Amino acid sequence: MPDHILITNQIKSFNKKINVSSDKSISIRSVLLASQAVGISKITNLLESEDVLNTLKTIKKLGIKYTKIGKTYKIEGFGLNGFNIKKKTIIDAGNSGTLARLILGLLVKTKFPVKLIGDKSLSKRDFSRVIKPLKLLGVNIKSKKDLIPIEITGTDFLRPITYYEKIGSAQVKSCLILAALNTPGKTIINSKKSRDHTEIMLKYLKYPIKVQRKKSYDKISVQGLNQFKSFNYDVPGDISSAAFFIVLTLLSNKSKIIIKNINVNKSRTGIITILNKMGANIKLRNRQIYNGEKIANIHVESKKKFKAINCSPNLNSSAIDEFLIIFLVATKAKGISIFKELGEMNKKESKRLNLAIKFLKKIGVKVERFKDDIKIYGNPNLKLYKNYEMKNFLKDHRIFFLSCITALTLGGKWKINDKDSINTSFPNFLKILKNIGAKIN
Ligand code: S3P
Repeated sequence: MPDHILITNQIKSFNKKINVSSDKSISIRSVLLASQAVGISKITNLLESEDVLNTLKTIKKLGIKYTKIGKTYKIEGFGLNGFNIKKKTIIDAGNSGTLARLILGLLVKTKFPVKLIGDKSLSKRDFSRVIKPLKLLGVNIKSKKDLIPIEITGTDFLRPITYYEKIGSAQVKSCLILAALNTPGKTIINSKKSRDHTEIMLKYLKYPIKVQRKKSYDKISVQGLNQFKSFNYDVPGDISSAAFFIVLTLLSNKSKIIIKNINVNKSRTGIITILNKMGANIKLRNRQIYNGEKIANIHVESKKKFKAINCSPNLNSSAIDEFLIIFLVATKAKGISIFKELGEMNKKESKRLNLAIKFLKKIGVKVERFKDDIKIYGNPNLKLYKNYEMKNFLKDHRIFFLSCITALTLGGKWKINDKDSINTSFPNFLKILKNIGAKIN
């Protein structure tokens, strides 16, 4: 089977109700926390993408049993640090930065060294952001240039720390929260705002964790060495996957979509705030609270006109995985859009800021960059007619999705390589696109 697709037609008008894949961040966290709970946890609607399957494989390697019965994953935890780790254990996080960073937080007490490896993309990503605070806790970590492979050996003499997390990375914050579970006393993490699913899940599990919300950061206090019971969790839809269908609908002709049961935690909905400021009219309906998380259906209709935006960097963390697709809307807006302080985009599965600029230039859009800020010159009449080929993007799933949505909304004849990258986060992406009428070969 070739690992590319061809798109040569724009999508026709549609009116659909869809489900997208389950939330990746919550799927990974629910599996990792179930591995630390006392008893059998049951998780339904777990995202079955490579990142999450690698999380399941990881806990299994660390001695935690799980089974899948019907649609339910049953995970048998033995409490905090209830792993049974063999000598020379190697865990492979594949493409997942979240798994790689979070699992290190759970390995702070291992008796034997555990080696962490991953794929080509993960091997280029920075781990100093977690190595540094873990070392402060007393953990022994060996790595070359703060890259994987990393060898971690735990200690029985962990000491609580107060740490300032200044990047706004939920992966760093969560790694430390998980490490704090095993650390005696109170660990304090003053964390620049980022997605807070770990904190919410632990609160729902009645774990002694306190979050004080300050203006620009959260003060998180974790009281270590408390057990929590097994739980049931039904994973909601992922706004980062919904994002591509939101923009597909906005930029298509006379179309409507309802995306059901999406996690709309405020730390994730930057895309909705930004696009609504640009003139979209995205609505959240059937709002509910589930285990402390906000869930809603997302209603979107096509729009003919968009305004340029001067996007506040305060929104960066809540839209960090969505900027690629937000940029596509900026290409059609009237005026020059400005996005600032986006250096973190270059720390993702690929150097996304660099690649986004390359991509926009490829489709004829004027872009200017100054350090980590970019200006996108919009053109409401932008249409594509040429042939485009997408390759060499480190198999970054989100760049694949962006290319598909561009082809379906702006036109042109597209050959898009690395189709298999969709398995990282959204395995049924192409199937859903076809169901709403996209012609894909
Ligand atoms: C994630 C956090 C974000 C995000 C990633 C998932 C998480 O990364 O980009 O896709 O689940 O914690 P950072 O925390 O490094 O910004």
